[in-house]
Amino acid sequence: MLSKVTGYVLDGLSGYPVTVEVDTNSGLPVFDIVGLPDAAVKESKERVRSAIKNSGKSFPNHRITVNLAPADMRKEGVGLDLPIAVGIVVASGQVAVKRGNDCVLIGELSLDGSVRGISGVLPILISAKEAGFKEAIIPKANEKEASFIEGLTVRPVEKLSDAINFLSGTKDLFPVEKQNYFATAKRVVYENDLKFVKGQKLARRALEVAVSGNHNIIMTGPPGAGKTMLAKCIPSIMPDMDFEEALETTKIHSVAGILADDEGIVYKRPFMTPHHTASRPSLVGGGSSSNPGIISLAHNGVLFLDEMPEYPRSLLECLRQPLEDRVITVSRVKANVKYPASFMLVGSMNPCPCGNYGSKTAQCKCTPAMIQRYRSRISGPLIDRMDIRLTVGSVQYSDLIEKADGESSEVVRQRVNRTRLIQRERFREENIKTNAEMSEKHLKKYCSLSESCESILRDSFEILNMSARARSRILKVARTIADMEMSRNICEEHLIEAISYRGQDD
Ligand SMILES: Nc1ncnc2c1ncn2[C@@H]1O[C@H](COP(=O)(O)OP(=O)(O)OP(=O)(O)O)[C@@H](O)[C@H]1O
Ligand SMILES: [Mg+2]
Ligand SMILES: [Zn+2]
Repeated sequence: MLSKVTGYVLDGLSGYPVTVEVDTNSGLPVFDIVGLPDAAVKESKERVRSAIKNSGKSFPNHRITVNLAPADMRKEGVGLDLPIAVGIVVASGQVAVKRGNDCVLIGELSLDGSVRGISGVLPILISAKEAGFKEAIIPKANEKEASFIEGLTVRPVEKLSDAINFLSGTKDLFPVEKQNYFATAKRVVYENDLKFVKGQKLARRALEVAVSGNHNIIMTGPPGAGKTMLAKCIPSIMPDMDFEEALETTKIHSVAGILADDEGIVYKRPFMTPHHTASRPSLVGGGSSSNPGIISLAHNGVLFLDEMPEYPRSLLECLRQPLEDRVITVSRVKANVKYPASFMLVGSMNPCPCGNYGSKTAQCKCTPAMIQRYRSRISGPLIDRMDIRLTVGSVQYSDLIEKADGESSEVVRQRVNRTRLIQRERFREENIKTNAEMSEKHLKKYCSLSESCESILRDSFEILNMSARARSRILKVARTIADMEMSRNICEEHLIEAISYRGQDD
């Protein structure tokens, strides 16, 4: 007898349906899976065999052929166990499908017949919904991921027998209850909050400017100045994630299998800190699988490179494509996958290898050549992308013992939301969203300067020996500061503040 059920597999962040055709006929008992299955799918044979036996059904003592169609697409992952097992039980005439004919089935099986969670359920469901499917049966462990999707009835199962009994009409399965994203997202609390940062007025201001215009920022300062602490606060002042952003980030985290069990959607801005000894595949993605790397996991959040000069140049080079295109290509044996990777890059470094250069209280032991070498490790294309270069001084003792909390992240975030809205309005027709993304064409259009501003910039250009790139960077940041003050024009004070974030090295 022949049966057909629908499974689903992932390809990057989208997926495609796989028709699982099972044919059983008399003949020597062999079990074949054809249609380009990868190793994990091949291994599913043993899981499927035991799971069926342990679910009160018998594994047919016939010739079984499972065909996964379309045959020319590679099938990765373990999610096809469930449709294969259901297909075999149906093809062997043990049950008849009475409902859910057009239902997508996904899940890994344990030998005992229970259904285990898999990664990538959210992107699969979104893709299935877009492909016109109305129903899906998924592992119970993944039910939270399904709770934010409208227009698809999703039924969670714990056991293979639940799925079989539902399809044959002998058991009901209650669909996942839907949740409202905005109701959940309102309760977001970030662990690190600016209210715990004492003093550091200049640094707080610079962070707010950076986040307001989506500018990358590098902080230079002595050990213990609070660079890491400040960086960790950045997600908490970033604008609220809208539903689209949250879904996009969740898809990536779902494929990587790092979604927290109790959440189902990522509504906090990610904060990713790869170690400087991280491998290239862990950063970029790929390797033995086509999983996304840390750079993509930072999508819509922060990628923080603490002690930036410690990173080998080969790793820093990996950031060029995402910084330029906001996507990253992960290479695989047969084809490449693209993952979104739009993040705010935040770096920190000491002023010199010993950390004391420029300090009033401690002696720097480094030679000028050492300092030069240390700084040049992140020069070039990457440093050009750092719109704001902030020098963070040590916190004053009198500030540190101040009892009152500083301004909270929540208050700052409200202002950031407003400034981002101004940018959205301005760039509605431009295919960009923030000041940091402006090209030379946009700078001409939106950053014109008055006579007096032009003369300030010209003087600084000459006195500070600036490059043309530094000039563009200053204009972008000045535009952001003007937006923060809700000023149509860039005024002198906006420009002067932006010049102060220029940094030393160009
Ligand atoms: N402005 C501040 N307000 C409150 N606590 C602070 C402040 N600055 C630093 N601290 C305290 O000092 C600790 C060290 O700061 P942090 O690790 O952020 O320094 P750092 O600049 O990253 O140093 P390093 O260069 O050694 O990495 C923090 O964990 C925090 O407890
Ligand atoms: Mg640090
Ligand atoms: Zn030094």
